[in-house]
Amino acid sequence: MNVLVLHGPNLNLLGEREPEVYGWVTLADLDAELKRRAKRLGVSLRIFQSNSEGALVDWLHAQRRWADALIINPGGLTHFSYVLRDAIEGIRIRAIEVHLSDVQKREPFRRVSVVREVCETQISGLGPGSYYAALELLGARAPD
Ligand code: DQA
Repeated sequence: MNVLVLHGPNLNLLGEREPEVYGWVTLADLDAELKRRAKRLGVSLRIFQSNSEGALVDWLHAQRRWADALIINPGGLTHFSYVLRDAIEGIRIRAIEVHLSDVQKREPFRRVSVVREVCETQISGLGPGSYYAALELLGARAPD
């Protein structure tokens, strides 16, 4: 199974950005652990981060024929980007939305996700564990 992992804006600063909210794990550490777990599950990963909405959409388009599924943390774009929402829907991919923090328990604007309806489920509030849970969910259903 081929899985895309897409990190949205500001996630490059993981580990130094509001660590009380997002924790101390860096994006490089998170990606390394994802790769380690993917290998164990027999899943191939491609990972990308950008602070630019257009670059995220371009990357999704470019990867669409390779990918079976998508794990996406759209960062702040979660709450208003119909562009990203349409890109996910447009490439007809099985997607799981993840968030490090518990977006339901923060400011009201974070409770809204415009990508939610084009994703299978939303996993949030587990720190990097949100990504790992999404990977397990996909990997568990991967064909032998
Ligand atoms: C986030 C939550 C978003 O509201 C925020 O804009 C982020 C990170 C999370 O992983 O908890 O950048 O997606």
